[in-house]
Amino acid sequence: MFDPKVEDLLNKQIVAEAYSANLYLSMSAWFRDKNLDGYANWFYVQYKEEMDHSLIIYNYVLNAGGQVKLGAIDAPPTEFGGVRDILKQSLEHEQLVTSLIYAINDAALGVKDYKTVQFLDWFIQEQVEEEDNASTNIGRFDLFGEDPKGLYSLDEEMNGRSYTQTPQVAHYENEGA
Ligand SMILES: [Fe+2]
Repeated sequence: MFDPKVEDLLNKQIVAEAYSANLYLSMSAWFRDKNLDGYANWFYVQYKEEMDHSLIIYNYVLNAGGQVKLGAIDAPPTEFGGVRDILKQSLEHEQLVTSLIYAINDAALGVKDYKTVQFLDWFIQEQVEEEDNASTNIGRFDLFGEDPKGLYSLDEEMNGRSYTQTPQVAHYENEGA
């Protein structure tokens, strides 16, 4: 059972993570169109991770006796001002997501919902990593990206990222069985 406000915020976060996924998929498509396939790969992996986040929260709500009520997912932007613009937008987006996670955490603490506080701990750690990755992408682009050869190398490097399902997905799926 959940406090209604916490349950509502968790439901909104399921949708917010799905929006994040679509935002990164839209960014990935932009990179593919510009033949920056390594960056496209990086953001495609990011899309999959965000879908994992959405499913983790979805399964947690159900496992903990809550009701899932999915709202509309906003359309992501389809036009971007360039590589740096995308990298900057992705950092700003992760900072926004961090603030959403903190708000759920505050609400859960306010009603002594310690199971949700504990559940969110992983997301809080994950946001540190997400913001760090996004900042690193900007920093490396600023160092090397304005030079065509530098951008070529960065793109190759971004191609090295591969997807493995976040272990929490299976954990929370199995808990519900
Ligand atoms: Fe996320």
